Amino acid sequence: MLPVKKIELHLHLEGAAPPDFIRSLGAEKRADLSGVFDARGGYAYDGFAGFLRCYEAATAVIQGPRDYARLLAEVLERCAEEGVVYAELFVSPEFCGGADLSAWQDHLAAMTEVAEAARPQGIDSRGIVTAIRHFGADRARRTARCAAETAGGWISGFGMGGAEQVGRATDYAWSFDCAAEAGLGLTCHAGEWGGPDSIRDALALGCTRIGHGVRAVEDPGLIRDLVERGITLEVCPGSNIALGVVPSWGAHPIARLADAGVRVTVSTDDPPFFHTTMRDEYDRLATTFGWGDTEFRQINQWAIDAAFCDAPTRDRLR
Ligand code: ADE
Ligand code: ZN
Repeated sequence: MLPVKKIELHLHLEGAAPPDFIRSLGAEKRADLSGVFDARGGYAYDGFAGFLRCYEAATAVIQGPRDYARLLAEVLERCAEEGVVYAELFVSPEFCGGADLSAWQDHLAAMTEVAEAARPQGIDSRGIVTAIRHFGADRARRTARCAAETAGGWISGFGMGGAEQVGRATDYAWSFDCAAEAGLGLTCHAGEWGGPDSIRDALALGCTRIGHGVRAVEDPGLIRDLVERGITLEVCPGSNIALGVVPSWGAHPIARLADAGVRVTVSTDDPPFFHTTMRDEYDRLATTFGWGDTEFRQINQWAIDAAFCDAPTRDRLR
C-alpha cells in the first residue's frame, strides 16, 4: 500500500493549468489559442523548445489576480485529491504582469487568500518566485526584487526555470544573492538539459535544491558532493520521459541516485502537459523499481527536510 501523504516540491502553477481551464479563459478573452491544443484537446508540442512555446502561449491567457486565484484554487484541489498535503508552487511574476512590483503584489494577495483558505482542507502550500532563464539576467533581477519585496508569508523561495541551454546559471548570481538576503530558499533548474557542470553552477549560486538534477548521474564526483552537502533533487520522472530527457521509465536514474544516497524527491513539474499525476508517478516508481513503503517514506522525509517552510510547519508534516 503506497503512503497517502505526499509532499510535492516542484510544481509550476502556470504549467499545472488544465487545458479546459486555459480554453475557458481563452474564450472569455477571445484569445487566439491556435496551435496550443492537439486534436484530443490536450496540449500540443514537440520537444522542449515546442513545449516552452506552447507553455508560454497557454500561460498568456492567465492574466489578472482573479485568474491566478482561480487557477491556484483548482490546482490545490487537484493536489489534495492526489494525497498531497504540502506543495510548493513555482509562480512567475514575469507571467503576472511583467514583474511589475505593484501588479505582482495584487496577484500575490489573491493567491495568498486562496492558499490560506485551502489550508484547513488539508493542503498546505508555499510559493517560489521563479525567474525565466531565457528571458535574460535583467528580467531575472526584476523578478528577484519582486521576490525579495514579498518574502515571508506565502512566498518562501526563489528559483529559476526555462531554457537551461541559455547562458550559465552563474550569470544570474545577483538575483540569487538578492533573494538569499531576503531570507528565501534557493532552487534552480539544472541537470535536466545541461550536464554536471550546469548543476555545479547552480550549487555555486547557493541553492540547497536542484530542479531535476538527474544528469548528476553522469558524474560520480558530483554525486559524492551532492550526498556530502545534503543537496536535494526535485526529480520529475514523468516530465523527463515526456520531454525526452530520459528514454523510458526503466532508464530513469532516480533509483540509482537514491541508492547512491542522493536526497531525491518526486514531483510532477507541469502535470497536464505530461499526462501525469502524483499517483501516476508513485505507481510507475513502484512498478518499475519495486519501490514500496520504505522508499516512499524516505523520499517524503527528504522532501520535508528540504521544504522552504518554517520549523512548526515541518514538524506538522513529519
Ligand atoms: N518550466 C516549466 N517546466 C519546465 C521544465 N521542465 N524545465 C524548465 N523550465 C520549465
Ligand atoms: Zn520545472
